[in-house]
Amino acid sequence: MASEKPIEATGDEPFLGLLDVALLAVLIAGAAWYFLRSRKKEEEPIRSYSIQPTTVSTSSAVENSFIKKLKTSGRSLVVFYGSQTGTGEEFAGRLAKEGIRYRLKGMVADPEECDMEELLQLKDISNSLAVFCLATYGEGDPTDNAMEFYEWINNGDVDLTGLNYAVFGLGNKTYEHYNKVAIHVDKRLEELGATRVFELGLGDDDANIEDDFITWKDRFWPAVCDFFGIEGGGEEVLIRQYRLLEQPDVLPDRIYTGEIARLHSMQNQRPPFDAKNPFLAPIRVNRELHKGGGRSCMHIELNIDGSKMRYDAGDHVAMYPINDKSLVEKLGQLCNADLDTVFSLINTDTDSSKKHPFPCPTTYRTALTHYLEITAIPRTHILKELAEYCSDEADKQLLRSMASITPEGKEKYQSWIQDACRNIVHILEDIKTCRPPIDHVCELLPRLQPRYYSISSSAKLHPTDVHVTAVLVEYKTPTGRVNKGVATTYLKNKQPQDGGEEVKVPVFIRKSQFRLPTKPETPIIMVGPGTGLAPFRGFLQERQFLRDEGKTVGESVLYFGCRKRSEDYIYEAELEEWEKKGTLTLKTAFSRDQEKKVYVQHLLEQDADLIWNVIGENKGHFYICGDAKNMAVDVRNILVKILSSKGNMSEADAVQYLKRMEAQKRYSADVWS
Ligand SMILES: Cc1cc2nc3c(=O)[nH]c(=O)nc-3n(C[C@H](O)[C@H](O)[C@H](O)COP(=O)(O)OP(=O)(O)OC[C@H]3O[C@@H](n4cnc5c(N)ncnc54)[C@H](O)[C@@H]3O)c2cc1C
Ligand SMILES: NC(=O)c1ccc[n+]([C@@H]2O[C@H](COP(=O)([O-])OP(=O)(O)OC[C@H]3O[C@@H](n4cnc5c(N)ncnc54)[C@H](OP(=O)(O)O)[C@@H]3O)[C@@H](O)[C@H]2O)c1
Ligand SMILES: Cc1cc2nc3c(=O)[nH]c(=O)nc-3n(C[C@H](O)[C@H](O)[C@H](O)COP(=O)(O)O)c2cc1C
Repeated sequence: MASEKPIEATGDEPFLGLLDVALLAVLIAGAAWYFLRSRKKEEEPIRSYSIQPTTVSTSSAVENSFIKKLKTSGRSLVVFYGSQTGTGEEFAGRLAKEGIRYRLKGMVADPEECDMEELLQLKDISNSLAVFCLATYGEGDPTDNAMEFYEWINNGDVDLTGLNYAVFGLGNKTYEHYNKVAIHVDKRLEELGATRVFELGLGDDDANIEDDFITWKDRFWPAVCDFFGIEGGGEEVLIRQYRLLEQPDVLPDRIYTGEIARLHSMQNQRPPFDAKNPFLAPIRVNRELHKGGGRSCMHIELNIDGSKMRYDAGDHVAMYPINDKSLVEKLGQLCNADLDTVFSLINTDTDSSKKHPFPCPTTYRTALTHYLEITAIPRTHILKELAEYCSDEADKQLLRSMASITPEGKEKYQSWIQDACRNIVHILEDIKTCRPPIDHVCELLPRLQPRYYSISSSAKLHPTDVHVTAVLVEYKTPTGRVNKGVATTYLKNKQPQDGGEEVKVPVFIRKSQFRLPTKPETPIIMVGPGTGLAPFRGFLQERQFLRDEGKTVGESVLYFGCRKRSEDYIYEAELEEWEKKGTLTLKTAFSRDQEKKVYVQHLLEQDADLIWNVIGENKGHFYICGDAKNMAVDVRNILVKILSSKGNMSEADAVQYLKRMEAQKRYSADVWS
């Protein structure tokens, strides 16, 4: 199952690759040798070598010491985050910043960059508190950056007596293992002797995680004050985290132009390619899969030849999109900004490992195009900061109230911002007296995240090409605007032309756990309506390839669903060809081709004997891909029903049976919402 790595905002990334470091080492050794030799031969002039500074190994024991940072800067609050796409990190930052109001000066910390065993020493700092903002992914797994900490508290037998803590979880109720990581960490810290200062908070990204967070936070601070005997909170002061430095004199080749980390990495491509160093993959094919119906679904082929990137069917490809040019221009105008200004935002917290929110120096145009999520729905703290830039009192009050936790304020935020799908551009268009400076907007907006796609090809058949099946996101909002998905709109416009210049997109591959059985003879059932078909196309290509090689391949049953056979039946010809060849048993549900909706789970229910035969009697594998919110839940429920009736089990036993299948990797889900 996928988990996404957040793209940390920094322009201070390792600047040299391994090869460079090796070359540097040789150079230094050579220089040293030459120096010593020349000392002996006094008559020869001593040559000097200028070695470029490098950030290859930035971590030292001292830098990893959050205790030392807390002590030297007079702080007592540390907020750790486990985050893949930035929300947890953002919440941690907000909590740390607010601490000052309650005389608890705070800092944010990435557990991956800290020596977490130092939690044992936190009690030595008076009024100290550790808060954990932790997201859950996959099958109830921690994020990559919290993995080691999670394992440490699970496996270790440490005594955390004297550690004061609180946990806020980030999750989504449509996933089976809702907020499992935060729930577990909260319980485990108590088992290890730590003191819970305030109850566990749980944020649901399917509903309104911002509301969950601010509601929790509002009760959290008074509880913290009670616990430490702090009398009331001071006035709320809005403090900038970054200071602006305009840099008109920076040499053009020192200015970031959209690189994720290393300067010039797009012009000077060097493997290994990953989240911080994406490969510019030429798009070979970009064609429409829908035959009608007014929506668009793209079949895209990305060439990864020469990248040294490998993939297996079931993996994900991640892509860095860029924002729509006209939206960027509009935001620049609304902020009265010269978008060509070269600037840096510099963290005022000199102890923070994050020096800039995104690679700097850069221009506002680049920041808004490549680095910031300008179409995301702004969270309440952004509204609070924007309020300060309203010249009209009523406008100021509107923004302040939407950022408050009063019932009316929350209701207004829900209807005026969330339901109306207003992004920062729409807010500034509709609140005409609000004119924030562009550098503050750049500080407030979240970092643009890569988008993930289930690879819809098999490397056995296409070792140098990665196929993607992506549905275009475009919808009308209640204010009459048309909102367009960042990545899918970007892809839609990336059309290769015969004989034209190559059209490229920055990508990297992310390994997943969504895998075909190791033995090709094992039968499989795949359920993938709509774009959920993507990874199964890869599976089927692979199984056909093995059959063509003369291998014995088990039965492959696919449940595919779409609205209408004549409109959005994607890869119809390929599926029917595999069916004809005997590689595939195909079951289709065209939901809107008859009066009453027919969905994939209705077909599964009808095929209860087949399902039990494959998974119960022949130990086959069961896969689901696509919509997490409704489809995956409904399919799982039907499966439990089938296991219970055909396997003569109680419902509770059927659930246990499914859990065992999951542990044995015989039940896998690749779902998103
Ligand atoms: C592991 C994984 C695998 C995935 N595989 C695929 C795949 O194979 N194919 C595929 O097409 N996608 C896939 N996705 C989804 C994909 O990553 C993107 O989220 C999707 O393409 C939208 O990206 P975007 O930048 O175009 O849209 P964004 O700019 O990110 O906008 C999307 C957001 O717009 C809002 N929105 C969308 N529709 C509406 C609406 N009607 N009303 C109100 N708000 C709305 C929602 O908040 C939504 O989150 C996958 C996601 C994950 C996590
Ligand atoms: N975050 C994003 O921006 C984003 C982008 C792309 C996709 N997605 C998610 O991915 C899903 C798949 O997208 P898609 O456009 O490829 O699919 P789709 O065309 O919307 O749906 C495919 C089929 O599934 C049916 N369906 C609806 N509800 C179902 C349920 N509860 N159980 C089983 N089938 C159901 C649909 O029927 P009816 O429509 O007739 O009810 C349709 O026949 C979407 O539902 C969405 O949640 C999200
Ligand atoms: C692919 C994927 C898998 C997820 N799996 C889970 C899960 O198993 N349980 C859960 O509660 N939330 C799950 N979530 C929801 C995230 O935890 C939630 O969106 C959270 O706010 C992300 O925080 P972050 O931005 O800090 O990474 C999942 C989200 C995605 C995109």
